[in-house]
Amino acid sequence: MCGIVGIIGKEGVVGHLLEALRRLEYRGYDSAGIATLNDNRIERRRAEGKLSNLVKLLEKDPLPGSIGIGHTRWATHGVPNEVNAHPHATDKVAVVHNGIIENFQVLRDELVAAGYKLASETDTEVVAHLITKFLDDGLLPEEATTAALKQLEGAFALGIIFAGEYDLMIAARQGSPLAVGFGDGEMFIGSDAMALAPLSENITYLEEGDCAVITSAGVTVKDVEGQYVVRSVQETALSGALTGKAGYKHFMLKEIYEQPQVIGDTLHSFVNLSEKTITLPELPIDFNTVPKITIAACGTAYYAGLIAKYWFEKIARVSVEVDIASEFRYRELVMPKGGLAILISQSGETADTLAALRYCREQGQKILSIINVPESTIARESDAVLPTYAGPEIGVASTKAFTTQLTVLATLTIVLARARGAIEVERESELVEALIELPARVADVLNHDERLKELAVELAAAQDVLFLGRGTSYPIALEGALKLKEISYIHAEGYAAGEMKHGPIALIDDGVPVIVIAPFDSLMEKTFSNMQEVIARGGRVIFLTDEEGARRLGNYATHTIALPQVDPFVAPILHAIPVQLLAYHTAVIKNTDIDQPRNLAKSVTVE
Ligand code: G6P
Repeated sequence: MCGIVGIIGKEGVVGHLLEALRRLEYRGYDSAGIATLNDNRIERRRAEGKLSNLVKLLEKDPLPGSIGIGHTRWATHGVPNEVNAHPHATDKVAVVHNGIIENFQVLRDELVAAGYKLASETDTEVVAHLITKFLDDGLLPEEATTAALKQLEGAFALGIIFAGEYDLMIAARQGSPLAVGFGDGEMFIGSDAMALAPLSENITYLEEGDCAVITSAGVTVKDVEGQYVVRSVQETALSGALTGKAGYKHFMLKEIYEQPQVIGDTLHSFVNLSEKTITLPELPIDFNTVPKITIAACGTAYYAGLIAKYWFEKIARVSVEVDIASEFRYRELVMPKGGLAILISQSGETADTLAALRYCREQGQKILSIINVPESTIARESDAVLPTYAGPEIGVASTKAFTTQLTVLATLTIVLARARGAIEVERESELVEALIELPARVADVLNHDERLKELAVELAAAQDVLFLGRGTSYPIALEGALKLKEISYIHAEGYAAGEMKHGPIALIDDGVPVIVIAPFDSLMEKTFSNMQEVIARGGRVIFLTDEEGARRLGNYATHTIALPQVDPFVAPILHAIPVQLLAYHTAVIKNTDIDQPRNLAKSVTVE
C-alpha cells in the first residue's frame, strides 16, 4: 500500500506534491517519486528510502512543471529501490498506483510479447505500458485509460498524466481510496483528505469503479458502467497544519503522553458527567434484540476488539465473535439475521477490515464502526460511527488510538448492558464512575515512566520476551508483545497465562524476561500460579499490577510496578500504557526508527 497525489496547478507543483507526500508517508516509506511535464515530456525524480531522500535529490536536481503526480511506496511487488519506485512511466504516460494489480503477470507477458520493454519488477508498470499500447493503437488518453482499466484485476487507486497534456489528469479507483480536491483554477488528487488538507477544503471521494477526468476547470466522473455521475463535494474539517512533536523526541512518545487528554476528549462526547450516565449518539441499532455481535479488525485494533469481547459477554451478556479481518473475510461465517458487526480501525482504510465490513453487509448485518478518521472509507460505508477523538496519530505503532478505541468500547459495553437489562443501576454507576476517573488515573500511570525506562535496559539486552495475562489482560499481553516487536525488533510473544504450560514454558530461562500483567481481580491468583511456574524455572518476572496486587504478591517478582487501583473493568486501558512505554524505551536503547519502523506502514490498504 502506498500514498498517491496529483496536482494540476498554475505554477511549479513540486513543493505542494512533496508536502502532500509528507502527509502520506504514514502509508509507506520504502521509496518516493515525482513526475511532471516539461517541454511536453514526462520527467521523473525517484529515490529509494524515505521522502527526505527525494527532497535531497530534488534540491540537487530540481523539477519544474505545473502538472505532476507523486508517490510514497510500501513495497509489495519488487524490492524497495529506485527502479521499482513510482511513478512508472513510458514516453507517453506516467502512473502512480496504490493497490495491487493481481493479473499483472499475464498482462506483463502480453506486453513483453508485443515488444514493450518493462524496467521494474512492479505490478504497476504494466498499467503505464498498457495505456501506452492503447495510445499507440490511436486511442485518445481517456479512451486508452478506460480500455486499460477494463483489463486490470485487483485493487487500485491510480493517478495518470500524459506527455504533452498540461491540462489533463486521470484518476481511477477500485478498492483503494482516492479523493479529488478542488482549488481556484487548480485541481488535486490524493489517497486521503489529510494529504490535500493544506491545498483544498472541498473534497470529492471517488466511489468503487469510478474514473475521473480532471482538468484545471474541474472534474467529470464516470461510474463502473461508464455512465456520467455526480459525486458530492464535502468540506473537509481537517487542519492544514501537520502536528509537530511538541518538544518530544518522537511522535510515539508524544502520543503516549496525550492519552489522558484524548481519553478525556473521547469520554466527554459520550458521558454525561453530572448525571453519571452514558449517552451514545442516536444509533439505528436495537441493542436489546441483537442476537450476536461480530467484531473484525487488524493489528492493535483487533486487540481492542478482543478486550471488548470479554466486556460485552461478561457485562452485557451478549454472544460475541471476534476475528482478525484478514481471516474473517474468507471464513464464510454464518451470521444471524439482525446481527451487529463492529469494525474497529484507526485509519478507517485498512483493506482487510473494509472487506470484512462488506462481507457483513452482504450477510444483512447492521454495521457499526469505531474509527479515528471520520472521512475514511470504513466510516462512510457504515450504518453508524462511534468516533475516537485521538486526533491524528502519526507514529506507526498505535498507542492513543488503541486506548481511545477501548474507551469507546467500554462506553458501548455499558449502553449494551443497560439496553439488555444485564446490569444493576448501582453497578452501572460504578462503571461510569471508573470511566470518569480514567484520564486522571492514566496521568498517574505516566508517573512510572522513569522506572519503566530503567526496566527497558533489561528488555533491550534480551533476544526474546514473553508477555503473559489472563482475561482482559491477555489482549494487553498480545499488544505488549506486538509493540515491542514492531519498534524494537526484539522477538516477543504474548500468551494467555494459563496456556503457557502448554508450550512457551520451554522457552523460560534467565535470559528471557517475562512480563506478567495482572491487576488485582478475580483472576489474579490464577495468574500468580503461572508466575510462580516461571519463577521456579529461573525466569525473571516483571510484574505489572496495581497497588493491591503489589502488596499481596509484589515480593515474588524480580521487578514490580504498582499501578493505581481502579475498577477491574477499566484496568486494561490503564495497563496498556506501561507496555507502550516499555516498548518505546527499549526501542530508544536499540536506536531504531521508532516513528517509522522498518517494513511497516501505518495504514495497510492492500490485502
Ligand atoms: C497497521 C498499523 C497498526 C494498526 C493496524 C490496523 O499494521 O501499523 O498500528 O493497528 O495497521 O490499522 P487500523 O488503521 O485499521 O487501525
